[in-house]
Amino acid sequence: MLYIKNLFLKIMNNGSVLITGAAGFIGSFLVKKFLRSGYQVIGIDNINSYYDKNLKLKRLKNIKEYSNKNNLNWLFYKSNIEDKNYMKQIFLETKPQIVVNLAAQAGVRYSIINPSAYVKSNLMGFSNILELCQTHDVKHLVYASSSSVYGSSKEYPFSEVQKVDTPLSFYAATKISNEMMAHAYSNIYKLPITGLRFFTVYGPWGRPDMAPMIFADKILQKKPITVFNHGNMSRDFTFISDIIEGTFLCCLKVPSPNDDYKFAKPSIPHRIFNIGNGNPVKLLDFIELLEEALSIKATKIFENMQPGDVESTYASTQNLEEWISYRPLVTIKEGVNKFANWYLDYFK
Ligand SMILES: NC(=O)c1ccc[n+]([C@@H]2O[C@H](COP(=O)([O-])OP(=O)(O)OC[C@H]3O[C@@H](n4cnc5c(N)ncnc54)[C@H](O)[C@@H]3O)[C@@H](O)[C@H]2O)c1
Repeated sequence: MLYIKNLFLKIMNNGSVLITGAAGFIGSFLVKKFLRSGYQVIGIDNINSYYDKNLKLKRLKNIKEYSNKNNLNWLFYKSNIEDKNYMKQIFLETKPQIVVNLAAQAGVRYSIINPSAYVKSNLMGFSNILELCQTHDVKHLVYASSSSVYGSSKEYPFSEVQKVDTPLSFYAATKISNEMMAHAYSNIYKLPITGLRFFTVYGPWGRPDMAPMIFADKILQKKPITVFNHGNMSRDFTFISDIIEGTFLCCLKVPSPNDDYKFAKPSIPHRIFNIGNGNPVKLLDFIELLEEALSIKATKIFENMQPGDVESTYASTQNLEEWISYRPLVTIKEGVNKFANWYLDYFK
């Protein structure tokens, strides 16, 4: 693992990395990882109000304090990725070598009530990112896709060879579209691109619209939690540090048209990988671990499946393991404890 890491670092060291969605859950951790590793990091985020802005501002404050303290190279621009003129100016000013696009309208359920937010950020915004990378000589674009692209597939574990053309939500449809747009760009312009299908990321500083935070909020307020599909759900919960390690290594390994890679046409430098834990956890087991970590029993209300939701997710991470020696390290028990400790501290 260490040897491979050093090899990648030789390929692209101390360059500049532009990360969109830098005030977000995954983005804020990735920014710190790159800063720690000696890169100049340019962060972009529109700090929208889809969830508590204060949480985003606090993540940014942490990054700023960390970079000031250690004299690191951090720049932040508040911008919408769909604002092509301003984004162009940022690319001209900062000349990034690696671009990581994490900015997106996330959330399956919100896409039922506000689909146009997804068109703006995930389609128009992503199309700008592709064009800017192609016209500004970016060496590698990495973008966030999602496990939701697998829809209601029951072929477990989900593998990148499966067809993904039956999305159950508009959010998933935009993520599949991103993969297709990236593939076409990579084919026409030979732009090296890596797409990462994230599987239910959780941990400290996580998203308030996702189950761990919703459950923790309610359990501590002694309010009942709603358990959908009567608890018959499982998720491939993946701890944030495993996601960051895998994403970082993928950023440094640039697909080449000459790679003899089994799941992609060799002449197109576009690769797609699952990045998950490879170990799905039943929702009720997850809740039990959270109850233990918070030392409170939850009151549960059981309801039917929500529209757009999927029953189970389960990543095969074999391809990512072959690509960058990816191996998730954090067990669900450790991860839930870390999350709960952070939550108790943050909201005390
Ligand atoms: N967290 C997960 O479990 C998960 C799972 C699958 C996929 N993903 C994808 O990973 C990426 C990051 O997810 P996250 O959990 O960190 O989400 P997040 O919502 O915490 O982060 C996204 C950030 O992007 C910003 N943003 C949104 N639209 C923007 C726009 N048009 N212009 C500029 N900034 C914009 C938001 O303000 C936010 O800070 C997203 O693309 C998401 O769809 C996440």
